[in-house]
Amino acid sequence: MIKPRVYVTRRTLQPGLELLSSRCEVTVHQGEEPPSREELIRNIRGKDGLLCMLTDRIDSEVIGAAPSLKVISSFSVGVDHIDTAEATRRGIYVTYTPGVLTQATADLAFTLMMAAARRISEADRYVRNGEWKIGWSPTMLLGEEAYGKTLGIVGLGRIGSAVAERALGFRMKVLYHSRTRSPEKEKKLNAEYRSLDDLLKESDFVSLHIPFTEKTRQIIDRQKLGLMKKNAVLINTSRGQVVDEDALAEALEKGWIAGAGLDVYSTEPLPADSPLLKLKNTVLSPHIGSATHQTRSLMSEITAKNLLAVLKGEEPPYLFNPEVKEIRPLSEIKVF
Ligand code: DGY
Repeated sequence: MIKPRVYVTRRTLQPGLELLSSRCEVTVHQGEEPPSREELIRNIRGKDGLLCMLTDRIDSEVIGAAPSLKVISSFSVGVDHIDTAEATRRGIYVTYTPGVLTQATADLAFTLMMAAARRISEADRYVRNGEWKIGWSPTMLLGEEAYGKTLGIVGLGRIGSAVAERALGFRMKVLYHSRTRSPEKEKKLNAEYRSLDDLLKESDFVSLHIPFTEKTRQIIDRQKLGLMKKNAVLINTSRGQVVDEDALAEALEKGWIAGAGLDVYSTEPLPADSPLLKLKNTVLSPHIGSATHQTRSLMSEITAKNLLAVLKGEEPPYLFNPEVKEIRPLSEIKVF
């Protein structure tokens, strides 16, 4: 029997690759860098499945280069790098990895919140750069406290809710803004709904947990940053494009807000001339929300299971575009 052909755009951890290789003929892009656009288009030709990363732009041209493609399995929860409407139109199943990275990403959001509040990056540089000359001082590196403060969560999905759970342990007042209100979550997480403007005005910490879409592009812009408290800290572990980064740099520089903890940027890697790099009151990490051994290993397994399920004509564990089933039912896909 001919094995289905699959292209994997980066070497991932073992469990997934082993699973895929047992059933498919797998081509894995070698090297640490993502494949170039030309490589992507060349390698996707004739493939039944694609396992891609959030750094691969899977637009209509790439999708169009692979008429036999049946499934795009993304090694991410965000799918803003994929033209999902075009995939659906062509009957291609798009799968992703929600759930498995919730706790790791919520941990990072909380880490950035605490690190920005207590100026940990600055403190670390202070020690390493030999600036620590006086053993202890009543005014050295004063920061903000999180315990008992108000946390505003924008987007109360899986990750936003996991951040709210952590905040309960810090006796924080939790506010949230979401497309839809959820009375059950409000009860479970002791969270109060607010309009986005009111949330920004009332919160000491604001953590963003929304996907990047045309509707959320720069949803946190200059005007919104202007609503925040002077002592407020903004945390972003979702997508850089949901914030106007120039306005944020200005807000941080001019003291409209106290600090920021950022894991994601509108351009990644962050360009060397980004004004954010010069600001003391920012804690910056390089898009590592899901970067734990445990989570990445699970992501590897889930991406493979998602992909194999579709090729077997079975419901994948995490399907992003269920409406695709009306265009091409799973029974028509079954290749093994
Ligand atoms: C994702 O998977 O979309 C996250 O950004 C990873 O950190």
